[in-house]
Amino acid sequence: MAHSKYILAALLSLGTAETPSLADTRTPPPDSAIAAGCSALTRSLPSQVFLPGSSVYDYEVGNLWSNTQIRRPACIVRPTSARNVSTAVRESRATGTRFAVRAGGHMAVPGANSIDDGILVVMSNLTRISIAPDRASVDVGPGLTWEDVYAYLIDFERTAVGGRIAPIGVAGLTLGGGIGFQGNARGWAADNVIEYEVVLASGKVVVANETSNADLFWALKGGGANFGIVTNFKLRTAPSTKVLAGIYTIDGSHMDALITAAADYASYNTDPLSHILPLVEIVNQTTTIGLVLFYDSATEANPACLDQFFAIPATNSTVAFKTLAEFVVERNSFSIPDINDVLFAGTVVGGNGGDVRAAIQLTHDVFYGKLPDLYAAVPPAALEYVSIGWQPVPGLWLEASRRANPGGNPLGLGLSSSSAVGGEEGKVYIAWVGIVMWKEARYDDAVGRWIRDVADAINGAARESGLYDPFVYMGDAAGFQDVFAGYGAKNRERLLRVSREYDPDRVFQTLMPGGFKIGL
Ligand SMILES: Cc1cc2nc3c(=O)[nH]c(=O)nc-3n(C[C@H](O)[C@H](O)[C@H](O)COP(=O)(O)OP(=O)(O)OC[C@H]3O[C@@H](n4cnc5c(N)ncnc54)[C@H](O)[C@@H]3O)c2cc1C
Ligand SMILES: *[C@@H]1O[C@H](CO)[C@@H](O)[C@H](O)[C@H]1NC(C)=O
Ligand SMILES: *[C@@H]1O[C@H](CO)[C@@H](O)[C@H](O)[C@H]1NC(C)=O
Ligand SMILES: *[C@@H]1O[C@H](CO)[C@@H](O)[C@H](O)[C@H]1NC(C)=O
Ligand SMILES: *[C@@H]1O[C@H](CO)[C@@H](O)[C@H](O)[C@H]1NC(C)=O
Ligand SMILES: *[C@@H]1O[C@H](CO)[C@@H](O)[C@H](O)[C@H]1NC(C)=O
Repeated sequence: MAHSKYILAALLSLGTAETPSLADTRTPPPDSAIAAGCSALTRSLPSQVFLPGSSVYDYEVGNLWSNTQIRRPACIVRPTSARNVSTAVRESRATGTRFAVRAGGHMAVPGANSIDDGILVVMSNLTRISIAPDRASVDVGPGLTWEDVYAYLIDFERTAVGGRIAPIGVAGLTLGGGIGFQGNARGWAADNVIEYEVVLASGKVVVANETSNADLFWALKGGGANFGIVTNFKLRTAPSTKVLAGIYTIDGSHMDALITAAADYASYNTDPLSHILPLVEIVNQTTTIGLVLFYDSATEANPACLDQFFAIPATNSTVAFKTLAEFVVERNSFSIPDINDVLFAGTVVGGNGGDVRAAIQLTHDVFYGKLPDLYAAVPPAALEYVSIGWQPVPGLWLEASRRANPGGNPLGLGLSSSSAVGGEEGKVYIAWVGIVMWKEARYDDAVGRWIRDVADAINGAARESGLYDPFVYMGDAAGFQDVFAGYGAKNRERLLRVSREYDPDRVFQTLMPGGFKIGL
């Protein structure tokens, strides 16, 4: 999407909000090592290595959501098999050349999915997809997007739990946990992976499932890019033809009603077929609310659980029966090409309806309170889109997660205390996400400072009110955010143990510095 900009980015040597919690991908390794790595790969995979100046290099190097992600790798390799991925890992190790891995390219953390002066391994040709004869599962290559998966499965009247917008990669989303439309019925996307094929640091290709490499199986369900390169995801499928879904557009003047409806829904909804994503969208300093509504039924046009939203007047609504593939494409219309984007995130938590409303209101108020600072630092004309959204993760979701995946995941949002069963008694988490889209690299640092300030301010206010939770959803996190601390000490230690067991030489912590890292 951003590919025309890479030369400019390289020339300007983009300043970005890079972070202490991610390894520094900028310190250049010796040229001889880089050259050795790329030439070794060129010898082993002669038709799959692309150097600067080639059209494939130019295409792949900028095939990222945000211009801030663009780096200048020494070469790009496109494996066509797990064995080729293994070759890339072995050659990188043998020559001491650092590498990055990119699938859908939507993690907007600079350095997470590309690298200066190293090898960029892209998943573009690992796009095999194949439904099982019983249709209960599907094998999906890491180069596919969620649109690809939904479009393939609809021919079999099936679907999978995954992304809510077309171009998001299967790999990155699933490795971070994965928030999909069917969370209330089926948990996180990662809970619905029944087997992974993984290239380990040794170059060995292994299977991780409930019975083989069970600790790796657990770790991959939210542990990100710390354990190996996944070359196949076996996803559980579910029946699907059409769903009731759309964007219900509300004027910003109805914010109170929206927040009340969202809080009531998050606290009291008992219908697992429903999902909402209220996005406050500020364009040209004017607020509209883009409320994403979803109900997993091909026949129910008026689900009672969404009544409170439909009672708010809309300026437009696209809510109608459509396939999931159609809906994620429709939602992608808000993607702006060739732009700088960043996400940042956090979690507030409430124990009953009143608390949840206060928690959402607090994030809203702090966010709006900080907008003047943003406008002072970045000319409003350079800001394309500023947003905050609220993703409810109630007890219903956590119960579904446990049903789908009894072995658990590392995310740490569990039903740890036996009384937490959702509804009025249980905890309701609101994973909030902030988005800024802007033009011109010279504002990167200013935006980086602003999002850090807003996240600190929301977390501070939430702590003071007893509404704070340390969970930060990896998919929505900015580079400075400590995702693994939010999983809780026990899960973090277990992830570290698993990573040391499968990667004793710490290849995925040092040679592959990008992404959220568990540490040495
Ligand atoms: C517009 C937008 C909408 C989004 N919507 C959703 C949503 O609905 N639900 C949700 O849960 N999240 C959502 N996200 C967050 C998204 O899940 C993350 O950004 C995710 O990391 C994207 O995955 P990717 O494959 O596209 O990214 P990439 O940037 O390619 O990969 C992300 C990380 O995973 C690593 N990685 C990639 N492939 C592999 C592999 N095969 N093996 C090991 N490591 C690998 C990369 O090195 C990188 O560190 C959204 C993000 C954006 C920008
Ligand atoms: C690359 O993958 C192809 C396709 O599976 C295979 O034929 C070839 O042997 C692999 N080469 C290496 C060096 O991994
Ligand atoms: C590899 O991926 C690129 C980019 O999507 C595509 O154009 C090309 O046809 C693919 N090649 C193979 C062998 O799949
Ligand atoms: C896990 O993978 C192994 C090796 O492929 C296989 O023998 C076993 O049946 C799998 N277990 C499950 C529960 O699928
Ligand atoms: C913002 O407002 C200006 C001036 O009214 C207009 O030209 C521009 O198209 C608007 N931008 C968007 C994204 O609506
Ligand atoms: C409503 O949204 C649809 C889809 O984006 C668009 O085609 C239509 O013009 C919109 N209608 C109004 C009144 O804004």
